[in-house]
Amino acid sequence: MAERQSIELHINEETHVVSPDTGNTLLQVLRSTLSLTGTKRGCNQGVCGACTVLRNGVPARSCLTLAVECDDEEITTIEGLAPNGKASIVQQAFVKVGAPQCGFCMPGMVLVATALLREHSNPDQAEIREALSGNLCRCTGYVKIAEAIELAAEQLV
Ligand code: FES
Ligand code: FES
Repeated sequence: MAERQSIELHINEETHVVSPDTGNTLLQVLRSTLSLTGTKRGCNQGVCGACTVLRNGVPARSCLTLAVECDDEEITTIEGLAPNGKASIVQQAFVKVGAPQCGFCMPGMVLVATALLREHSNPDQAEIREALSGNLCRCTGYVKIAEAIELAAEQLV
C-alpha cells in the first residue's frame, strides 16, 4: 500500500489538509480530491501546459509536480482568479478579444498571462510570446491570446 503523509495546501487563499499518496501529482489532488476541475489534464507529461497553476506565484505544470512537494505552499488555480464569480481583468480581456475557441488551454494561458503581468506591467510582443511558449493551443494560432494580454496590460495600468 502506498505511503501517505498529511500536507497543507493553501489553494486560492483557502487551506486544505490532504493526505495524498506519495506518488500523487498536484493535478490529481486538485481535480480528484478537491474537485478543482478548472485545471486541465492534457498530455499529463509536461508538454502542453494545460495543467498550469501558480505555485508561490510562478507558473508550474501540476502534472509534473508531486503534491507532497507543495506542502505549505500557495497555489493559485483558475478558480482563484474569480473568487466571487467576477472574472479578473485578464480573464475579461481574453473574453473581450475572443481569445477562447474550444477553451481547453485557457486556464493555463490565463494563469501564465497573470503571472507575466505581475512581473512585467507592459510586456512587449517578444516577452508575451516567450511567456506563452510553454503552453500549447491547437485552435487559435496565439494571435488573439497575445492581443488579450496586451489589452489586459493596458487595463491594469
Ligand atoms: S497536462 Fe501537464 S503539461 Fe500537459
Ligand atoms: S482554445 Fe482550443 S486549445 Fe486553445
